[in-house]
Amino acid sequence: MARVIAVFNQKGGVGKTTTAVNLGAYLTTFSKKTLIVDFDPQANASSALGLKPLELNKSIYHGFLNLTDENLINASEIKNLDFIPSAPHLAGALVELVNLDNREFYLRKFLHKFRHLYDYILIDLPPALSLLTINGLVAADEVIVPVQTEYYSLEGLTQALEVLDLVRKNLRHNIVITGIFMTMFGYNPLSKEIEKNLKDNLGDKVLKTKIPRDLALAEAPSFSKTILSYKPSSKGAKQYRKLAEEIIESEIKLDKNFGNFII
Ligand SMILES: Nc1ncnc2c1ncn2[C@@H]1O[C@H](COP(=O)(O)OP(=O)(O)O)[C@@H](O)[C@H]1O
Ligand SMILES: [Mg+2]
Repeated sequence: MARVIAVFNQKGGVGKTTTAVNLGAYLTTFSKKTLIVDFDPQANASSALGLKPLELNKSIYHGFLNLTDENLINASEIKNLDFIPSAPHLAGALVELVNLDNREFYLRKFLHKFRHLYDYILIDLPPALSLLTINGLVAADEVIVPVQTEYYSLEGLTQALEVLDLVRKNLRHNIVITGIFMTMFGYNPLSKEIEKNLKDNLGDKVLKTKIPRDLALAEAPSFSKTILSYKPSSKGAKQYRKLAEEIIESEIKLDKNFGNFII
């Protein structure tokens, strides 16, 4: 059964999509069959994984609202890395969900069909907080939270932790934080200070891996490639490989500490 992990931070531009596609790519190098669910109407993950908008017929929108029986799984150029694409019409689902019972649980129910087919399912969430984000969090058992290494990042993180608490309390969904990690890290005094601050406040929830600011990571999507096929020797690629290793190791920790892995 797949571990279902949402990449969550309600701030935009912090590295969620970059993480979903590149972590996904590197999980496959450890023989983990991985599905990326693009759940952002901006569909950046879909295009980074090679989808051309004109080729798109049906998307996650039709899937999770039960509007189609079609197979929505696309193969990426990387073996064992598949994805379910998104499209701008996903934003319309917000209006359609409002009047439905159990509106927070639609994506979870939909993903049940795929859990036995994969080792990992990564959900790429949109920025901002909406019923789409809540559906994504409820569909996942775990979250990872990328934090951009910048001055205001801790405020955003506090909000993200509050949202997770609300999901636990109000929806009785015991979502676990597998790790918080820094993205666009630079070796300068500000980055160091933010790192210390994070560790002081969140202790071992902060992962060891730090994703550096690396132009190759920003360039790869324009070639519809993950960093694994675009520049596997880059600094960014090496750290996404380490992140994959750390996430795989956390499965063992999670098993041992089951029940007290929540902050
Ligand atoms: N480690 C990094 N180094 C350099 N650029 C990055 C890095 N991570 C993300 N980017 C770039 O920053 C922008 C925002 O990243 P993205 O992953 O799309 O964030 P989000 O999904 O949280 O909105 C994109 O243009 C992306 O290519
Ligand atoms: Mg994104």
